[in-house]
Amino acid sequence: MFSRRTVLGAGLGLAALSGARAATPGLMAVSQQRGILFGTAAGSYQLKDGDFQQALLREAAIIVPEYELVREQIEPEPGRFDFAGADLLTSFATRNGIAMHGHTLVWYAANPKWLEDKVLHAPDDEVLTYYIAKVMGHYRGVYRSWDVVNEAIHPEDGRADGLRNNYWLTRFGPGYIDTAFQAAKAADPAALRVYSDWGCEGGEAWNDVFRAKTLDLLEGLIARGVPVDALGLQGHLNAFGVPVDQAKLRTFLDRVRAMGLKILVTELDVDDTKAPRDIATRDAAVADATARFLDVVMDNPATTTVMTWGLTDRYLPRPDWLKWMKGYSPRKLPLDDDLHPKPMYQAIRHAYRRR
Ligand code: G3I
Repeated sequence: MFSRRTVLGAGLGLAALSGARAATPGLMAVSQQRGILFGTAAGSYQLKDGDFQQALLREAAIIVPEYELVREQIEPEPGRFDFAGADLLTSFATRNGIAMHGHTLVWYAANPKWLEDKVLHAPDDEVLTYYIAKVMGHYRGVYRSWDVVNEAIHPEDGRADGLRNNYWLTRFGPGYIDTAFQAAKAADPAALRVYSDWGCEGGEAWNDVFRAKTLDLLEGLIARGVPVDALGLQGHLNAFGVPVDQAKLRTFLDRVRAMGLKILVTELDVDDTKAPRDIATRDAAVADATARFLDVVMDNPATTTVMTWGLTDRYLPRPDWLKWMKGYSPRKLPLDDDLHPKPMYQAIRHAYRRR
């Protein structure tokens, strides 16, 4: 169990370190000046890489475990909890004065195989609430924010409310979302409770529906007094596909702010498949998509955090061999394979500096 004392104790050693970190100002320093945290997803296995650790210390004011906190990793068997991977990242962060964002407590994916049957035959919602209490309790007072419910909207499933058909919905109805946020508040009242989803960035008709259903969900939660604090805008963009629709995104985020919610960008990356092979062209398009998105997001006073879904291309899954033979390897993150800043990195830095 991580205690606040552990974190504070770790904080005592931070003076020296923060001095060292200030010597090479990265996005961490820039974001702290702006008051909007910058951070990134990281995998515990990546901490074995010393160069990557240094990049993380230079750039991240907040870290989100990329997969170590999904239920298939945390509770592989009923009642057996494995926090090893998430603890590694959390220890690294707290030792270095970096905040933590938890991802995710309730999702339709990345669950252990035994869970579906357990949920569908559950006599009550304890199968949902005990897990939230256990996981958030383990990091009580340490994690700044949590994706409490992830990706519950899926209009293609044809429901009037736009909710995704999943076994949480089948067993408990739409109220599973309310229950999750209420359990999260009980488990760690101080942590920001986030609803996270994708599909709200583009300008196509399906994006319009996605945004409308997301607003309906959030407004309903608030109307019922459910303790949701923030929208997690995932920000999975596409450099050569559907562009960010700045006007529609701005209007959407203004509505979210008007509800009294905060805004976090939780998984920013820019897909550059279907791209020409020329790297400069690809990098410029990725940077432009990033700039168009962040220009809107950073303008909204409710925005508190921007996290990319990885810091470097170095750890991205490699493409199939045919694409690799053609010289294609994804370039969707701020730093390249050698941890050098790319135009996307500069676009983020500019967005932070732009007032
Ligand atoms: O479990 C192994 C672990 O033992 C091993 O040490 C590690 C390193 O090799 O790999 C782990 O495997 C996989 C892990 O990704 C690392 O690549 C997991 O089996 C696999 O389930 C996991 O997939 C993650 C996936 O969500 C499911 O959790 C992806 O990394 C992650 O990028 C993806 O992210 C999702 C967000 O959670 C939700 N939004 C969409 C986003 C992209 O799909």
